[in-house]
Amino acid sequence: MIENKSLRAEIDKIAEVAGYVWEKGWAERNGGNISVNVTRFLDEPEMNFSETSDATPLLEPVTNLAGDCFYVTGTGMRMRYIARKPCENGSIIRITSDGAAYEIISEPAVKPTSELPSHLLMHSYLRKACRNSRVVLHTHPTDIIGLTHCKPFLDSTHFTRTLWSMIPESRIIVPKGVGIVPYQIPGSIELAHATIEMLEKHDIVCWEKHGMLATGEDIIECFDAIDTLSKSAQIYLNARMAGFEPEGLTDKQLDNLAVAFNL
Ligand code: 13P
Ligand code: ZN
Repeated sequence: MIENKSLRAEIDKIAEVAGYVWEKGWAERNGGNISVNVTRFLDEPEMNFSETSDATPLLEPVTNLAGDCFYVTGTGMRMRYIARKPCENGSIIRITSDGAAYEIISEPAVKPTSELPSHLLMHSYLRKACRNSRVVLHTHPTDIIGLTHCKPFLDSTHFTRTLWSMIPESRIIVPKGVGIVPYQIPGSIELAHATIEMLEKHDIVCWEKHGMLATGEDIIECFDAIDTLSKSAQIYLNARMAGFEPEGLTDKQLDNLAVAFNL
């Protein structure tokens, strides 16, 4: 039981989103994972851990995150159970002072997601870029993944343009568009490197034939961004299934949205 009220509220929000992701059908078995920087919610005594010798080495150091604490979902844990019991299906980790390892500082000690390399490199990259971002949400939206099985959609510009043109909200809510990362082995450091390359120009990344990752300051906003893009993908696919190519918003209409909403 977490006594700290602000930390409790943050973890409740993570649990709420885990529930939405499950309800959406984006989280088969243990599909998807979440990390949230919770350092700001921890008090001095909670932060005052002495480092032990059983810290787990990271595949790549993240020196600019040294001392930071993250709530991270556990590997093999199901979103539908994270929704109900976030502290039994995830844990709080702290990056060691040299940035080269992590320690689990909560009970029970749940082993972090296999995608920790991508999550931590993303947090590290966003910190360096001074982007306001504490959250990485990774999930498996069926419709979006389906589109990445079609070659032309492996081009980030074409993929983004198609999703933007289905509904105005996609253009407004995801102004930097989606970066497509070519397929790599899940959990690999190669996937992590390819992911942060795409973060340079985008807030949302799509892993070919695998899933999406949204970054941001608030986990509800991250969920909303993926949900909006998923809606666009559904409209596109439904139109194709009905036998027609959807017309889509024109370039001019998309440009006008950018002006109207200061994007
Ligand atoms: P984990 O259970 O290790 O978080 O893996 C799920 C997943 O989605 C891998 O990409
Ligand atoms: Zn995944």
